[in-house]
Amino acid sequence: MLPDLSLDATYWQQRYANGQTGWDAGRITPPLQEYFAQLGPPGARRILIPGAGRAYEAEYLHRQGWPNVWVADLAPEPLHDLQQRVPDFPAEHLLLADFFQLEPALAFDLLVEQTFFCALDPALRPAYARQCAHLLRPGGTLMGLLFDTEFSQPGPPFGGSRAEYRPYFEPYFEFRHFATATNSLGPRHGRELFICLKKK
Ligand SMILES: C[S@@+](CC[C@H](N)C(=O)[O-])C[C@H]1O[C@@H](n2cnc3c(N)ncnc32)[C@H](O)[C@@H]1O
Repeated sequence: MLPDLSLDATYWQQRYANGQTGWDAGRITPPLQEYFAQLGPPGARRILIPGAGRAYEAEYLHRQGWPNVWVADLAPEPLHDLQQRVPDFPAEHLLLADFFQLEPALAFDLLVEQTFFCALDPALRPAYARQCAHLLRPGGTLMGLLFDTEFSQPGPPFGGSRAEYRPYFEPYFEFRHFATATNSLGPRHGRELFICLKKK
C-alpha cells in the first residue's frame, strides 16, 4: 500500500500553527525519564530523537549534561520552540529533515521513540524499523513508547498492536523489552508498550 503523501511538512507545520497538538505532553514522559535516569552519568553516547516535535526529551537530556543529542523534525515550529526554551542547545543538532532521508556521518548509539511512529502512515512502518536500524551502530538501542491500542478517529495518531509491530523490528533487532509500560502518562496508561530493542 502506498503511504499517504498528505502527511508532509506542510501538514505538520499547519498542525503546530493551528495549535492542533493534542499529542504534546508538555514535558518528558515518565517512562523515558526513568529510562534516562538509569543510564548513569552523561557521556559521549550519540542520541537521536526523530519526529521530536518540541523535544522535551532533548531538553531534559541537555540539561542533565548529555552533549551529543540530536533532534529531527519536518516542521520548523517545534524546533524553534526548543531553541527558545533552551537557547544553549546546539543549533547544529536541530535537524529540519525527513527522518527517512537522514544519512548521518556517524551512527547513533540510541534512538528515542515518543509519539513519532504513530504519526506516520502505517504503510511506512516497515521502513521506519529499517531506517532506525540503518541509523544505529550495531548494538545500538531503539527505546521508547508505541501505542498498543486502536483509535476510533482516523489517524494520526494511527494505532496498532504489539503483534502487528513485532515483525517490523525482528529482522534488525533483539528484543530486550517489549511490554506494557507501567508508568505511562494518565490517559495513555495501559495503552502503550515500552520498547527497548538492540540492533543486531
Ligand atoms: C505526533 S507528533 C509528536 C511530536 C513529539 N515526539 C511529541 O511527542 O510531542 C509527530 C512529529 O513527527 C514529525 N514528523 C512527521 N513525519 C516526519 C518525518 N518523516 N520526518 C521527521 N519528522 C516527522 C511531525 O512534524 C511532528 O512534530
